[in-house]
Amino acid sequence: MVGTGPVRNSGRWRGQVKVQIDAARCQGHGRCYDLAPEVFGEDDEGYGHVLGDGLVPAALHAQARLGAMNCPESAIDVVEEA
Ligand code: F3S
Repeated sequence: MVGTGPVRNSGRWRGQVKVQIDAARCQGHGRCYDLAPEVFGEDDEGYGHVLGDGLVPAALHAQARLGAMNCPESAIDVVEEA
């Protein structure tokens, strides 16, 4: 089942979590890949991108949440699937 959209609560994530960066909103601040280097990477121009397919294993939920919550442009969407 697909989630209902971005999840920005600070509660515990359950189920499958996927992150994505909206390239139109990303301004290259770099906080995502600085704070969550196992979830996000940077391209040649410093813009963020999601590593792999964006699915976040449970062990990296806290790191992913930290990176997403610290993006000044709110460019990172977190989709929680049941
Ligand atoms: Fe872009 Fe936000 Fe990361 S602006 S580089 S997605 S912190």
